[in-house]
Amino acid sequence: MGKSGSGKTSMRSVIFSNHLADTTKKLGATIEVEQSQHRFLSDLMLNLWDCGGQEAFMENYLRHDQNQIFANVQLLIYVFDISAKEYDKEKDFAYYTDCLNAIKEYSPDASIFVLIHKMDLVGSDRRKEVFLRKKQELLDHSEDVPIRVFGTSIWNESLYRAWSRIVHTLVPNAQDLTNHLDEFVEACSAVEAVIFEKTTMLLIAWSSQAGDFSKDDLDDDDDGEVGYRDAALIPGEDDVDDDGESHPDAPPVLPPDRFEKISEIIKRWNNSKMNFSFQNWVQEWSNFTAVLESLTQNTYILVIATDPDILPGALRLNIEMAKERFI
Ligand code: GTP
Repeated sequence: MGKSGSGKTSMRSVIFSNHLADTTKKLGATIEVEQSQHRFLSDLMLNLWDCGGQEAFMENYLRHDQNQIFANVQLLIYVFDISAKEYDKEKDFAYYTDCLNAIKEYSPDASIFVLIHKMDLVGSDRRKEVFLRKKQELLDHSEDVPIRVFGTSIWNESLYRAWSRIVHTLVPNAQDLTNHLDEFVEACSAVEAVIFEKTTMLLIAWSSQAGDFSKDDLDDDDDGEVGYRDAALIPGEDDVDDDGESHPDAPPVLPPDRFEKISEIIKRWNNSKMNFSFQNWVQEWSNFTAVLESLTQNTYILVIATDPDILPGALRLNIEMAKERFI
């Protein structure tokens, strides 16, 4: 949901149809509701309703079709265009509160996510301030409804991170997956294992020995640059000496945007059908070994180890043996 031009269809096509951000400029306005289905994991079907945001449609959803649009909703994503004009902003808030009221009535258990979108149009020096102000305005308009807010843009990895977190909440056995991954990481003496969905390359489960990708890490950050980069794999102040050297027992330093980079590369690889060697690319990360393998029909697993004695072949063998636990 969200006003016309806020970017709903664009994000859908970037995430679910592998379109490049550039091509979204040619998208026309969505007429009424565009429904699409995506098989997400073998037994999870994602039904996406992209509701055209022109006023006539919004009025229809909210005045006449409430029980059709807002019933049986598991998750509502409301998209705000951060660059919207003042007049449009007021109207947008009115629609937003109407949508929340309708959801409360017809799908009281639905999770609500709000995307403050097109953050790329805000100068990077003001991004944090603008995000926080908008987030506060949203909280003021949400009364007692719990919402989770992300700053996003189709032009960078923020969209991918937000959608990974959104979709993660829909995976019915997410905790089982995480438990299996925890055991797997320990058994391999790895530092991290991550499961990606194959079509979208969204992250659906992860486990880390060095850091703690706990549930709290899924919460939106306050800086508009939502992401996993706050996780403990990035050395905190305590881990770094005054001269910038890491302590020997500090957690291993892995690139903070590694998941987005991997996702991007695999997507391009899938699109181009070219012969891409993941292993070659991983070598660029000097201090660890990473192995990416198909895990199930719908997922890839990425395993990262920092101990130089752990060879990629051993990780591959472990993945092979663990597959039946993840089916
Ligand atoms: P309706 O279908 O009318 O409800 O609109 P919509 O919300 O689906 O908007 P749409 O996806 O068609 O996007 C409108 C315009 O916004 C397009 O020209 C997109 O290229 C642009 N756009 C989408 N996301 C972003 C973004 O993150 N940043 C910038 N700068 N432009 C974006």
